[in-house]
Amino acid sequence: MSTDETMSVLTVTPENKSMEDIVALCKRRGFVFPASEIYGGLNGFWDYGPLGTALKNNLRDQWWRDMVDCPPDGPDGESVNIVGLDSSIIQNPKVWEASGHVGGFNDPMVDCTETKRRYRADHLQVSMARVERSNGTVENLALIATLEGDGEDVLEAKATKLIKKSGGGKYVSPEPDGIGLYPDMDRDTQLLVIGPDSNKPGSLTEPRQFNLMFKTFVGAMSGEDNVAYLRPETAQGIFANYKNVLDTMRVKVPFGIAQIGKSFRNEVTPRNFIFRSREFEQMEMEFFCHPDDAKKWYEFWVQARLDWWKSVGVDPGNLIRREHDADELAHYSTACADVEYKYPFTAPAFGELEGIAHRGCFDLTQHQEHSKTKLSYFDQEKNERYLPHVIEPAAGLTRGVLALLTEAFTPDDSRPSKVFMKFHPRLAPIQAAVFPLVNKDGMPEVANKLYKELRKTYSVQFDAKQNIGKRYARMDEAGAPFCFTIDGDTMENNTITVRHRDTCTQETIGIDHVANFMAEKVNG
Ligand code: GAP
Repeated sequence: MSTDETMSVLTVTPENKSMEDIVALCKRRGFVFPASEIYGGLNGFWDYGPLGTALKNNLRDQWWRDMVDCPPDGPDGESVNIVGLDSSIIQNPKVWEASGHVGGFNDPMVDCTETKRRYRADHLQVSMARVERSNGTVENLALIATLEGDGEDVLEAKATKLIKKSGGGKYVSPEPDGIGLYPDMDRDTQLLVIGPDSNKPGSLTEPRQFNLMFKTFVGAMSGEDNVAYLRPETAQGIFANYKNVLDTMRVKVPFGIAQIGKSFRNEVTPRNFIFRSREFEQMEMEFFCHPDDAKKWYEFWVQARLDWWKSVGVDPGNLIRREHDADELAHYSTACADVEYKYPFTAPAFGELEGIAHRGCFDLTQHQEHSKTKLSYFDQEKNERYLPHVIEPAAGLTRGVLALLTEAFTPDDSRPSKVFMKFHPRLAPIQAAVFPLVNKDGMPEVANKLYKELRKTYSVQFDAKQNIGKRYARMDEAGAPFCFTIDGDTMENNTITVRHRDTCTQETIGIDHVANFMAEKVNG
């Protein structure tokens, strides 16, 4: 969906967007709130306000439409068949034994004995900060741990405090080989490291494996026999239902099963707003194909998913495809690529938005063995029986919302709101606003009629309060792409003023053309 409405005259890159400002706008305008905020919040959990819910639902619905209802044609121009599913969050725990999550869904965790804080060990970057003393000699100062994504300013601030205490001097950046990850160091070196929030070395423990699944109990008893898990991914519900779908839907390989829903991971260090949270939503599709065709479908889906993120308004310059190195691949996977986005906290680098994995027949083999249920596919035309291979595009819905929020966030000092949200008209939580210029002279009645007409199809707001500039400012922050104002001209010759969010320009169109105008902008 391309539209010139999404092209702003301003060029703002993720590097100069502030996460603090984005989080503040999300709170102020009802996109995202800290969960249970009146009780002090809960780390890693977020609530979506009215505008955030609308944005998330729009992104979810667009994914469903583009993946299930109207998927793209396949690599050879053939129609692609994908069906939907909505499986339980809690499944028989054997599902998670078969998938490997009970035994292996672990992250290395490190505790700080001084501050009681907990970190993902592989997110701790340790640098040898240096100091130049007054006599010109450069000395090693201390091994300081910072968190993945922290800029050098964080390291410098901490080192500067230490320099003051140790006789003064000037901060010197670490040598490139003076930087490493905490888990890669031997224990003696780890004991010299100063933790991200502590002031003395040696307070970080050795990394320990920590299972990320949330455990609960089913029924009245809370013994080990009643243990169950909140799903850490939606994918396994799909594999567990693969045979049901095959038996009921007349699907033929190749075909896909798609699911959108909540997933839960007891992340060691939830951070960066809704990027890594403990409760989040995923949009996953398992595409079952013949083993000989898997490579072709893998390539197809990586490209299709990259194109899709562009189609929902993400600037191609802020997206990359990153192929996993061989040592990053899960043992069953022969290829995996991430679609990465340039978040303000990763810029100029990129961070994961979606993963597309070639999972081979790992999952079906595991579930076949553990459930003792035959999961092979019989191709009647070729008289061939085999276990299909799987290509899995797995996207974060809530992480996608973060990408859309940061992408849309556009500082602009020249307008009263100082910022506007440049959502694509199809994804915008409010797609248009209708204003009577003044609350008299028949204008509210005409405006109300237009509003009622438009809201049959679009998400529209009516606002008659405050001066027109303030009303525009509110809509700029909410990201409504169009404001229609009913003024004196409307009463005389049936024209209205359209104000465009991205350019602040205004044009006059006939009131009878508003419906066409919206259809063109939203669907064009
Ligand atoms: N079934 C494969 C799977 O779950 P994943 O890479 O662990 O793969 C897929 O997750 C996507 O889900 C990620 O690319 C990310 O967008 C999202 N995701 C994963 N963990 C998340 C978290 N803690 N918070 C928000 N989104 C998360």
